[in-house]
Amino acid sequence: MIRIGILVSGRGSNMEAIIDACKEGRIDGEVVVVLSDRPDAPALEKAKRKGIPAMYVPPGKKRYSLVGEAEEEYIRILREYRVDLVCLAGFMRIIKRRFLSEFEGRIMNIHPSLLPSFPGLEAQRQAWEYGVRFSGCTVHFVDETVDGGPIILQAVVPVFDDDTPESLAERILKEEHRIYPEAIQLFAEGRLRIEGRKVKILPGGEG
Ligand code: GRF
Repeated sequence: MIRIGILVSGRGSNMEAIIDACKEGRIDGEVVVVLSDRPDAPALEKAKRKGIPAMYVPPGKKRYSLVGEAEEEYIRILREYRVDLVCLAGFMRIIKRRFLSEFEGRIMNIHPSLLPSFPGLEAQRQAWEYGVRFSGCTVHFVDETVDGGPIILQAVVPVFDDDTPESLAERILKEEHRIYPEAIQLFAEGRLRIEGRKVKILPGGEG
C-alpha cells in the first residue's frame, strides 16, 4: 500500500479519479494528503468531502515555480504524511531541484497532449490549432524540464473536424482519468524502472 500526496491548483478531476481508484482497489494505495497553491481551488473542497486532509499552502512570491521557504514547507508536509509518491494533478508550478532530489523518481505528472508535442499551457488548444489528427495525454515522471520527464503511459484520442478546443479537452480528460490511476498502480506494484530517458514497465507478478 503506497501513500500518495497530490498537488493541485484547480478543478481536481484527476485528483478525484485517483482518490476513487484507491477507494475501489484499482490502486493499491491511499491518498493521504492534498496540497494546493491556491486557496480557492475547487479541488480542496472535493478532497475534504471525500475525507482526505486537504490544505492551501502558500506558494511564495515566485509566480511559476516552487522555491525557497514555500518549497521547504511543501516538502515538510509531504514528509510529515510519509508520502511515497507525489502526484501533480493540474498543479501550475514548476518543481525545482531541491524538491526533485527529495522525492527522486517519485513524482508524476499528467499532461493533456502526446508529449513531446505541445508541452506547456493550453496543450489541447495548441494541438487543435496545429491541426493534428490525433492527440491524447501523457503520464510522466517529473524532472527539471517542463513536461519533459520520462514517459510512463500515453493514450491517444482522435481529433475531429468539428471539434473545438473544449470538446477535444473533454475527450482527452476521459483518458487522463483512466491512465493516471493505471500508471500509479504500476508504480505501486514496483513495476516502473527509469532507465535514462525511458521508463521500462516490468512484467506483473502472480497477483
Ligand atoms: C488536466 O488536463 C491535466 O492534464 C493538466 O491540468 C488539467 C487539470 O485538470 N495538467 P483537473 O484539475 O485534474 O481537473
